[in-house]
This record gives sequence, C-alpha cells and structure tokens, in this order.
Amino acid sequence: MKKTLLAPSLLSADFSDLSGAIKKIENDGGSIVHIDVMDGAFVPQITYGQPVIKSIRKLTDLPFDVHLMVEKPELMVDSFAEAGADWITFHYESTVHLDRLIHHIHDLGKKCGISIVPSTPVSFLSQILHLVDLVLVMSVNPGFGGQSFIPYTLDKISELKKIREEQGLDFKISVDGGVNEKNFAEIADAGADILVSGSSFFSGKLKWEK
Ligand code: DX5
Ligand code: ZN
Repeated sequence: MKKTLLAPSLLSADFSDLSGAIKKIENDGGSIVHIDVMDGAFVPQITYGQPVIKSIRKLTDLPFDVHLMVEKPELMVDSFAEAGADWITFHYESTVHLDRLIHHIHDLGKKCGISIVPSTPVSFLSQILHLVDLVLVMSVNPGFGGQSFIPYTLDKISELKKIREEQGLDFKISVDGGVNEKNFAEIADAGADILVSGSSFFSGKLKWEK
C-alpha cells in the first residue's frame, strides 16, 4: 500500500528559528515542506514571501510546496519559482484564468497544485483536473493555523479519489487544516496522499515515520 506523506506546515513553526523548524521537519518524518503564503487580502494575515523562501531554500533538499493564499497569484508565480518553490499551489477562488496559470507554472518547470476552500465543490475543478499535479483540499477556512477539521471535507477527498480512478488521472490529493494525531488515519483512508500538518506536528503530538 502506498504510504501517505507528511507535509509539515511552517506556519506553526517558531519564526525566530526557521532553521530549527526545517531540521525538525527532516528528522521527524516530513517529506515536503508546506509553506503558507498569505497576503492580507485573500486571507487576513500576512506571513512571509519570496525572500524568506529564498533564504530557507539552502537549508534542505526537501521539496517546497508553496501554498499561495493570495489574490492575483499570476503576478507572483515567477518570483516564487525563482525563490525555490518546487510545487506552486494556488486557489481556485483567487483568480480567473486558471488554465493559463497552470500552463505557466508548468512552463516555469514547476509542479502545479490547485486548492479549494471548504465551500467550493470539487465539481468546479472538472475542466482542469487533468492539468494539475495536485489538488489541495482545504479542511479549514484558510488563514490561520490551529483550527478544527471540518468533517464534510472528508467527502470531497473521497470524491476526488473516485474521479481520479474513473478518469485514469494521476494528481495527488493533499489535505490541509486541522489534521492531527486523532484524525489522520481517517483522512488518509478517505484518499489523502499527503497530509499537511501545522500545529499538531510542531507541538509534537503528531508523530510520523516516513
Ligand atoms: C491554513 C494553512 C494551513 C495551516 C495548517 O490557512 O493553509 O497549512 O497552517 O495548520 P494546522 O495543521 O494547525 O491546521
Ligand atoms: Zn496551507
């Protein structure tokens, strides 16, 4: 059986010690570094951007999945690619010309993820699922770490898994928000290939073996 991968979210790290946070991700079972970029417009907080990613890029060989919670992501993908993103994930709800942006990210030589907030149905992705490398199912309303998993998002994970099988597609399913030591098995069973975890991982509650 395929092993579910853990992608710890830097949002819950101590920002005064990002180097220590990256070491913990490497040592405690992380396969991907999940980097939440917030612009204070698509979501209320502002986190970090290209210069921070550039400086932590040299600390690890683990892939970076940059989760853009920003308006107009098309204005930023070149500079995030340049800064060291391996995967660039943007929100369905944040822009209009999804097809163009997905192709542009691929032209930059990067993997492309598309994310949906809890209230966006999976069916809205029907025209573009064959183009993306990853679907990031938000299981909380984006913007903050430490929120509770929204149970109805489990059905969206299963729905994506079913569509992927029926249509012979190969995008990864990643789940982000409220994943913890109590619910991770159920979420993985529903079809998640990648579990993003911030607070539960950095508080030491969610233990993971690669
Ligand atoms: C929320 C972010 C998530 C979040 C996960 O907007 O996209 O990545 O940091 O944190 P936890 O695991 O604490 O919900
Ligand atoms: Zn995220």
